[in-house]
Amino acid sequence: RRPVSLPQLHQMRAAGEKITMLTAYDATFAAVADAAGVECLLVGDSLGMVCQGLTSTVGVTLETMRYHTESVSRGLRRVQGTAWIIADLPFGSYQESKEQALRSAAVLMQAGAHMIKLEGGGWTAPVVEFLVQRGIPVCAHLGLTPQTVHALGGYRVQGRDEEAAVLLRRHAHELQDAGATMLVLEMVPARLAAELTAELTHCHTIGIGAGKGTAGQVLVMHDMLGINLGKTPKFVHNFMADAGSVRGAIESYVRAVKEGRFPVDELHAW
Ligand code: KIV
Ligand code: NA
Repeated sequence: RRPVSLPQLHQMRAAGEKITMLTAYDATFAAVADAAGVECLLVGDSLGMVCQGLTSTVGVTLETMRYHTESVSRGLRRVQGTAWIIADLPFGSYQESKEQALRSAAVLMQAGAHMIKLEGGGWTAPVVEFLVQRGIPVCAHLGLTPQTVHALGGYRVQGRDEEAAVLLRRHAHELQDAGATMLVLEMVPARLAAELTAELTHCHTIGIGAGKGTAGQVLVMHDMLGINLGKTPKFVHNFMADAGSVRGAIESYVRAVKEGRFPVDELHAW
């Protein structure tokens, strides 16, 4: 197997093959997910909740993200894994200036990330352009953006009314124009996510709680294994329930996404 690359992801999109992504925070789970055929591993700042026991991602630091990115990268190297590693820029590490964003992104790239992800639209477009021009692939993230949960008023659906949908659409196009090659859409109506996917031919949409019409899907690994703390989001399916092993559960997730059996749109008609 050859390492997953941007051209390969573009090819998959062109061929209509769904892109699969799961979060990974440590070497062992990263290696298992890679072996199960997941193309993209996201070192998400959800590790704040999953690994650190925080109540939101706001408390996650760049140093913590660096540590986990390095662990995932080493895990893949140990098994000659091929997954594309995306690392989240944590809250406070890119909001100040384009230069601050570049410095933070460099830390994660040097820890082994192939792409960085950042949240938000509007003000982020120039930041994305600055990073992309300097050779850092960027994944954007719109809809429910957990780092701004306090401003959003809670973990809830975004882009449901017409005004919010118009703004989300504008932000998505601006991010594609700025050079973002992936875009996570979290908890947005399935119809809006599908429309954006059709419109954004150069930026691959990855949905979570956004229906089945996106170019790919992502879940928090612990959620899909059924071992999360707190309450399970409605859009999650427990793939461990019918599997004999973690590897089997992840293989079942990959198959379900590739075959269009996950997610089921009815559960995401927000
Ligand atoms: O941090 C994370 O796990 C994420 C995904 C839910 C998209 O950002
Ligand atoms: Na995140």
